[in-house]
Amino acid sequence: MKRVLVSGGCGFIGSHLVRRLLREHSDLHVVNIDLLTYAGRPENVADLADNPRYTFVHGDIASVEDVARAAEGCDGIINVAAESHVDRSIMGGDEFVTTNVFGTKRLLDYARTHELRYLQVSTDEVYGDVDPPHRSLEGDPLHGSSPYAASKAAGDLLVLSYARTFGLNASITRGSNTYGPYQFPEKLIPLFTTNAFDGKDLPLYGDGMQVREMLFVEDHCSAIDLVFFSGVAGEVYNVGAEHEVPNIETAHKIIELTGADPATLKRVADRPGHDRRYALDCSKLRGIGWDRTTDFDTGLALTVDWFRDNRPWWEAIKNGEAFADYSAKNYGTRS
Ligand code: NAD
Ligand code: TYD
Repeated sequence: MKRVLVSGGCGFIGSHLVRRLLREHSDLHVVNIDLLTYAGRPENVADLADNPRYTFVHGDIASVEDVARAAEGCDGIINVAAESHVDRSIMGGDEFVTTNVFGTKRLLDYARTHELRYLQVSTDEVYGDVDPPHRSLEGDPLHGSSPYAASKAAGDLLVLSYARTFGLNASITRGSNTYGPYQFPEKLIPLFTTNAFDGKDLPLYGDGMQVREMLFVEDHCSAIDLVFFSGVAGEVYNVGAEHEVPNIETAHKIIELTGADPATLKRVADRPGHDRRYALDCSKLRGIGWDRTTDFDTGLALTVDWFRDNRPWWEAIKNGEAFADYSAKNYGTRS
């Protein structure tokens, strides 16, 4: 493998992945195609601008022309780009289908006609919520609850269909809730952390007993790297922390780490269709040599420190008009 196309490399996970691929594979050239939506931040990869093994293409994965321009000469594609936020999908945007389904098809078509290796970065949300003690297995049925999860499940099904029908050398990773530096501050951990620094309320949906497996971003990226280079075609690999945390516990940990007033934790109206528990069985991934290196307490402390040290990064987002509009729509009617 000499040249790989990563989509969504200006987003949260994509920026860490691009950096990791350049660091871990000294002979690899990485092309990053990103549409620079509200979540795509060029500053997330500003440190790579002068790297001769890195190329940025401003483009849309749902455009045949943009994909062809970016993927020319590549041996593989890792599709990280997506509309990624459940609450925004509940607001009803078409872009969840355009990017997560149609965009996936465009990349698959290119990979098929040029016989490239393909990896789809997916999510545990495609399984829907599961009751304890079950942990989702790769062969479990797909039951996405939100429009986001449904669009990701549709993308996964397309990938598996291309592997079976056309023999495409494609695999899928399904990661659990991921956190770390550069995560867009609409998601639970960066939102609560940055609100806590500013003495603002921490809006906990419902009873806060929804369970998530919080995975540090570097561990998620090491799994994507491993599956891209060593995963079996047509196979799916779960990527979880195998450590369940209720949201209310995450909120309390953030309050402790930031020194925020516990009274700022406010219960607000629940998210419609809110999944109660995700849990993944990751035996298959461990079977090809992956292991998590960062536990939640260590990763969360590191993440809170990063947000403390990088206030200009998140203030530029949170002080903007677009973020205010989104916040008003999402939280305005909840209290
Ligand atoms: P993000 O929202 O931070 O970044 C998404 C990136 O994709 C942005 O840079 C955006 O500009 C780009 N993008 C969006 N539409 C595009 C298009 N049409 N063409 C090109 N680029 C486009 O997302 P994230 O949290 O980094 O998630 C990345 C991937 O990982 C997604 O596929 C998501 O489903 C998956 N995932 C995320 C998590 C999580 O907790 N964040 C967990 C499991 C899986
Ligand atoms: P989020 O970070 O949006 O990720 P996802 O919906 O993909 O799991 O949310 C994580 C959990 O935190 C989820 O159960 C919803 C909850 N949550 C809140 O309680 N309050 C909030 O303001 C947000 C954004 C999320």
